[in-house]
Amino acid sequence: MIKTISLPANSPMLQPSFTFGVATASFQIEGARDSRLDCIWDTFCQQPNMIADQSNGDAACEHVKLWQQDIDMIADLAVDAYRLSISWPRALHQDGTVNQQGIGFYRDLLIALKTRNIKTYVTLYHWDLPQHFEDKGGWQNRDTAYAFAAYTDIVSKELTGLVDSYATLNEPFCSAYLGYEIGVHAPGIKSQKAGRQAAHHQLLAHGLAMQVLRKNCPSTEAGIVLNFSPTYPLTSADTIAAEQADQYHNQWYIKAVLEGAYPALLNELDPLVQPNIQASDMQVISQPIDFLGVNYYTRIHYKKTANNWFDEAVIDNVPVTDMGWEVYPQGLTELLVDLNNQYNLPKMYITENGAAMADTLIAGQVLDYDRISYYHTHLNAVQNAIEQGVNVQGYFAWSLMDNFEWAYGYEKRFGLVYIDYKTQQRTLKESAKQYRALLKQRQK
Ligand code: NOJ
Repeated sequence: MIKTISLPANSPMLQPSFTFGVATASFQIEGARDSRLDCIWDTFCQQPNMIADQSNGDAACEHVKLWQQDIDMIADLAVDAYRLSISWPRALHQDGTVNQQGIGFYRDLLIALKTRNIKTYVTLYHWDLPQHFEDKGGWQNRDTAYAFAAYTDIVSKELTGLVDSYATLNEPFCSAYLGYEIGVHAPGIKSQKAGRQAAHHQLLAHGLAMQVLRKNCPSTEAGIVLNFSPTYPLTSADTIAAEQADQYHNQWYIKAVLEGAYPALLNELDPLVQPNIQASDMQVISQPIDFLGVNYYTRIHYKKTANNWFDEAVIDNVPVTDMGWEVYPQGLTELLVDLNNQYNLPKMYITENGAAMADTLIAGQVLDYDRISYYHTHLNAVQNAIEQGVNVQGYFAWSLMDNFEWAYGYEKRFGLVYIDYKTQQRTLKESAKQYRALLKQRQK
């Protein structure tokens, strides 16, 4: 059993220039729903049976109330950086003006992080779209992309000097495909056309927001966070299916952002479900970014379907996390090396990596050795990719603390810190202590 997290002593990841952090997202931790607008996840949580434990984000980790304690906890972990997201429905009023209380919350938080010498990595959209936009079509409506640019304009001006790194969107695949195409995430729409259109408008929003950030804060780095689940064929007969899945779920986003084009698979889709794309859109989407954020959790196997499409295939007898996701650290090395071979990449950060495990708090301790093993093997997978020439400059553990895991509610625990949701007590798991030990080993 692996009980510590370690890297080779000469690893570039242990050099001062490599950034280690922890990550969270607004809806998943903040609570304090009364002091912001409703968002699509509030609405989605009210629908019966959409969330495994029928919970919602009303209280979550009560981070808005307990943020100072949480920042002390982040500092105690000896990380270089904290990745958080801004809640659009907390930052702005419905008429598009600043919610001073909401933006003030983020300002205080960012100042407190700066005071402790912790770098601030801010994601502008981590899925909590204000409901009033959804009432007008949400991401299916092109206007939402322009509204996102206006929100970015206000936030980047209000937070001048407090942000070290901006990510426009987090995982547009999830908020477009899971939210609008198969409906397991908010807003719960099930339509291939809606999914494709939402993806395109989110990518457009990314491009428009990049233009705003370049204007408002040209010396602050800016990029996007994409999720990748490398695809593998179940059998040799499923190779094409795995390639299709890769194009549809992974390459769709990175190719648009880096090369201004969608994968060839787009042309195989029925024209009725293809997204509407305006003339200059792909150019707007593909402006240079300073970094690519990569979120990696697992790989996925695919098999072909009767109509020559692809379907996920579950494989047995492999180690899995509490999400049922295969633990496959080599997949992270393979992914990074493949991306590096395929694209002209900017520097990369691993903006999320981590595991849900069935943790138990016993006598003040959470001995989560399976999570320690996950971090150990995945950090070394990043190390292997760097050895093969890939430019990775940071790593963020998902997540700082247990939180609202979307459609799974509070049943899945991804945290380095254990949350007792009845008392809101925070307890460092053994994985947090080992992550801290690795980070403290560095000469900074
Ligand atoms: C990716 C998402 O960005 C995050 O919100 C989520 O909790 C993790 N994956 C784990 O599923």
